[in-house]
Amino acid sequence: MNKKITVLPGDGIGPEIVAEAIKVLNKISEKYGHSFEYTYVDIGGCSIDKYGVPITDEGMEICKRSDSVLLGAVGGPKWDNCPPAIRPEKALLAVRKELGLFANLRPTKLFAQLSNASPLKQEIVGNGIDLLIVRELTGGVYFGERKTEEVDGELVATDIMPYSESEIERIGRVAIETAMKRNKKLSSVDKANVLDTSRLWRKTMHRLSEEYPQVEYSDILVDNTAMQLIKNPTQFDVLVTENMFGDILSDEASMLTGSIGMMPSASLSSGTLGMYEPIHGSAPDIAGMNIANPLGTILSAAMMLRYSFDMAKEADDIEAAVNKVLDNGFRTGDIMQEGCKKVSCSEMGDLVSQSI
Ligand code: IPM
Ligand code: MG
Repeated sequence: MNKKITVLPGDGIGPEIVAEAIKVLNKISEKYGHSFEYTYVDIGGCSIDKYGVPITDEGMEICKRSDSVLLGAVGGPKWDNCPPAIRPEKALLAVRKELGLFANLRPTKLFAQLSNASPLKQEIVGNGIDLLIVRELTGGVYFGERKTEEVDGELVATDIMPYSESEIERIGRVAIETAMKRNKKLSSVDKANVLDTSRLWRKTMHRLSEEYPQVEYSDILVDNTAMQLIKNPTQFDVLVTENMFGDILSDEASMLTGSIGMMPSASLSSGTLGMYEPIHGSAPDIAGMNIANPLGTILSAAMMLRYSFDMAKEADDIEAAVNKVLDNGFRTGDIMQEGCKKVSCSEMGDLVSQSI
């Protein structure tokens, strides 16, 4: 198969980790006879430096015309004081919106080889954590109207969080159909004791869940979810929630596994176009040192093969290679354990691609 991939390395460690994922994709294309054509586009701070905007119109068009997008990370202290309209993060939100990437899948899986890395006690982690957060990605307070104005002699800021029934229904359907392919358990996370958007969310989810009696459905308040993720994380299978709750809970959940460096994500549209990225940030403090963990990005590339290209076997192959490298005791610094062999970012990429 022939696929056009737009590559957005971004800032900080972005270019280093993306290079390792490309190495692995090249190995897959060689082994299975696919042809992946890469087009590199600047995004985030590096684009601000070159063009004065976090992504150019042309760059956005290239993303839209491709079969999928692979992203490293954006941002860094250098651009923290940019005006809101041209901040590096703005480009990320614009790509999500313009490509219609409303469904963000964030799997949280504790690799058995890394179970000591989890900050939770062994009895809480049990036989392993394997949950999936489905985060709504193009609505809510991230995209509602916002303003700062002077009222009675002081500044007042407002951010509006709108949700329509159709927006809730389409993310709900993705979540429930994903749950059908997993352990058939769905927890819908909201704040229906306070927010109108959450009450509409809950009502819509109830209507939807009636169509899928095979799925064990429950509502859970977001504050309780934050607690349950630490107290009893193995109770969850799929969690579905709105944009900002999902942002916060997915960072919390990632730490259950010990390292945010392991976690991939997929942002999906109603078609096959998707964007794939590790959930960690640009880690400017270790940029250029070749010590970052590329596994989150490599596993994101596996999700790309699975969800955008329908290449399940190839995706399984990458995931098995990652497991094998961990089994053989190779670790980047963030997941280093006694008795293991410490490797650099590029060595880790080499090891995974050699195991395919
Ligand atoms: C994420 C990030 C982004 C978000 C930032 C960089 C805008 O935290 O993907 O989780 O809040 O969505
Ligand atoms: Mg986040």
